[in-house]
Parts: sequence; structure tokens; C-alpha cells
Amino acid sequence: MSTKKVALITGANRGLGFETAKQLGENGIAVILAARQLSAAEAAAAELAAQGIEAYGIQLDVTNPEQRVAAAAYIENKFGKLDILVNNAGVGPKNDSAFVKKNVETTADEFEYVFETNFFSVVYLTNALLPLLKKSDAGRIVNLSSILGSLTVHSIPNGPIDAAKRLSYNASKTALNVFTVHLAQELQGTGIKVNSVHPGWVKTEIGTEHAPMEIPDGAKTSVEMALIGEDGPNGKFYHLGKEMPW
Ligand SMILES: NC(=O)c1ccc[n+]([C@@H]2O[C@H](COP(=O)([O-])OP(=O)(O)OC[C@H]3O[C@@H](n4cnc5c(N)ncnc54)[C@H](OP(=O)(O)O)[C@@H]3O)[C@@H](O)[C@H]2O)c1
Repeated sequence: MSTKKVALITGANRGLGFETAKQLGENGIAVILAARQLSAAEAAAAELAAQGIEAYGIQLDVTNPEQRVAAAAYIENKFGKLDILVNNAGVGPKNDSAFVKKNVETTADEFEYVFETNFFSVVYLTNALLPLLKKSDAGRIVNLSSILGSLTVHSIPNGPIDAAKRLSYNASKTALNVFTVHLAQELQGTGIKVNSVHPGWVKTEIGTEHAPMEIPDGAKTSVEMALIGEDGPNGKFYHLGKEMPW
């Protein structure tokens, strides 16, 4: 059994997930990099291991029930606990951008695809890992939400996200925020803290090349919320040290 803290990061082969694993590793945490393709997970873990980080790669398509169970079994056998879960894996609308406006004409196929990854799978994976998080002294769950899930910011007339009204993606992140609030309340007294984060608008595949933020800065909020102490927030929504409105 490792005496180090152990973190699982989903969608860790690239983008914000890989950088989050790197920064957590640099903080002395053993990181499990989960990715849809085992080869991609192993390559990402090897890259971090070459930098002296304790890193492991596992296959985890978050939408796959058997792989969720297998991931929990792997962590149980290898570490006997999980300290940090970063629910990072996410998708925009298939073959389209999260930044194109689309409301009433959103198809059932798009809703199902986006919600399956960004919401249902986060709930199911978290539930599968809760017994291991409860074995940690101070479990931390970080849900990668978005400012695009904020009803308050969407309601500002001519507000900062007026151009981004993609119903499928935005609603999936709003739903994720409800999960954060409910789970944080449900887990009160267990030592586990659950928070949503907005990473910023970051240059990744989802963020597009038009985004102003670079990946190392984009990962900062996830890392910060993964490492909060006992006095840290619970059931909140954060971006770079500042609380966001729901
Ligand atoms: N970038 C932004 O501006 C921004 C803003 C707000 C929130 N976010 C959120 O931040 C998170 C990370 O996104 P990113 O910007 O880093 O985008 P990204 O570069 O497109 O990375 C997405 C990651 O999620 C993985 N993924 C997708 N579906 C998966 C599945 N079913 N199982 C496992 N992994 C899966 C991808 O794996 P593959 O390589 O296999 O496709 C990839 O590793 C997402 O939840 C996103 O919604 C991003």
C-alpha cells in the first residue's frame, strides 16, 4: 500500500486532464491516468514517470460500466483507497463545436451523447469509487464543469457567455453542478469534499484554438481544488481561487 496520496484523473491522455495529472504528480501525488485507449494512458503515464512522477496508466472509457468496475478494482488492489478523483473527461457535441448556438433543434442523439459522458458517467463512476474515497483521510472530488453551466451568468443580459448557447453541452454542465451540490451535502461528515470547477476558456480540442488561456493555467483550478485542506470549500463552484455563481 502506498503512503502517498493517490489521484485518479479521467481523460488524462491529453488536454487539461494530462496537465492536471502532471501538476498533481509534481505535488508528490501518485497519479493514475485514465484514458479510453490503454496505449494512450500508458504513453501519458510513461511521459510523467520519465519526469520522476509516480504515474500509472489504465484504460477507462467513462461510459463503459465494466471498465468503471475494473478501474475501482484496480485501485482497490493496488492502493486500497483513493484520495482524489478528478472527473475531467468530457465532450462537446459530436462533429460540432460547443460554441455554436443551438437550442430547440438539438437532436436526441446529441443530447444523449453529451449527457452520457458529461453527466451520467460522472455520477456512475463517482458512485463506483465512493467506497475507496471513504477510505481516504480526506477524499476530494473535482468535477470539471464550465462557466457555460452557470444559469446566473447565462441570465445576464448581453453577458460574457451570450455567444455560447449550446443547450446540450451547457445543460450537461448545469446538471453536473447539481450533482456536486447534492453529493457534497450527502457526504457531509465523511471528510470528503466535492466541488465543481470552471477551468477557464482554454486552448484544447473542446476550447478550440480561439481560447485565450494556455493549458498549464487551465489546469490550475482543478489542481487547487484537488489539494484543498480541511478548511477548504465544499459543494461550491470555483475558478482560479474565486467562487463562481451557480
Ligand atoms: N477547454 C475549455 O475551454 C474548457 C472550458 C470549460 C470546461 N472544460 C471541461 O474540461 C474538461 C477537459 O476538457 P479539455 O478542454 O481538456 O478537452 P480535450 O482536450 O478535448 O480533452 C477531453 C478529454 O476527455 C476524454 N474523453 C472524452 N470522452 C471520454 C470517455 N468516454 N471516456 C474517457 N475519456 C473521455 C478525451 O479522450 P480521447 O483522447 O480518447 O478523445 C480527452 O482526454 C472537459 O470536461 C471539458 O468540458 C473545458
